[in-house]
Amino acid sequence: MKERADEKMIKKYLADYVGDIKAEAVDIIDSTNDEMKRRAAKGEGEVSLLVAEKQTKGRGTKGRSFFSPGGTGIYMSLLLRPAYTPEECTLLTTMAAVSCAKAVERLIGISLQIKWVNDLYLDGKKVGGILTQAHLSKDGRRVEWAVVGIGINLSEPEGGFPDELKDIATALGKKGCDIKNRLIGEIINEFMLYYRSLTEKEFIREYSQRLFGLNEEITVKEDEEEFKGRIIGIDDTCRLKLKLPDGSERVLNSAL
Ligand code: BTN
Repeated sequence: MKERADEKMIKKYLADYVGDIKAEAVDIIDSTNDEMKRRAAKGEGEVSLLVAEKQTKGRGTKGRSFFSPGGTGIYMSLLLRPAYTPEECTLLTTMAAVSCAKAVERLIGISLQIKWVNDLYLDGKKVGGILTQAHLSKDGRRVEWAVVGIGINLSEPEGGFPDELKDIATALGKKGCDIKNRLIGEIINEFMLYYRSLTEKEFIREYSQRLFGLNEEITVKEDEEEFKGRIIGIDDTCRLKLKLPDGSERVLNSAL
């Protein structure tokens, strides 16, 4: 039976080591990330989770939107007040992506890939994504808060994905809808394990094993520059490693 997000059920599935996090499920919101940013600005503490059935203004990276129709996906954000450096916090997205992939694999038996740096892929199509947004202290040396937003398509919306998404988006399928709260709980469990020991970077190996597009050639547009390179992996700070046509190597950074 298709489940609705429910805070009591989510909490039931959280592991003891996660501790007492604040969890709230709402029917509709503009964007769970936007709401958590508003709450962070008002002083709400970590760790706080907000899940919505539907978003009217779901946000993706690079100013894109994230299609978030009612009842067909997981749309959630975690508010954190990390004691890590801004550089270390660039790994929050990586950790969240691995946590989603592992939870889906364990509970649903579907293998996901991760398209650097924040997209979850299933059979060559996007099934979800991560958007991490953070606020730094005035001197830029501390992260005052970070909001890690996770979106996963569980089922196709009635009538299918809109034209602009139908060739590039997909969904996990029925089983994901039936165990929505358990899946949310398991993602948080995985994430909190990594988060508590972020500097050990255990998740980098897990990320690397799921890297989408390995050995494929991509075209990169960076500022005024455009170049081609073959994906050869990620390094220990989760930068994407490329081999250029002249044989040299180059890494791509992801910003917080
Ligand atoms: C991307 O595809 O570029 C990232 C998508 C992130 C979507 C999630 S859904 C929950 C949270 N709230 C948002 O507005 N965005 C993130």
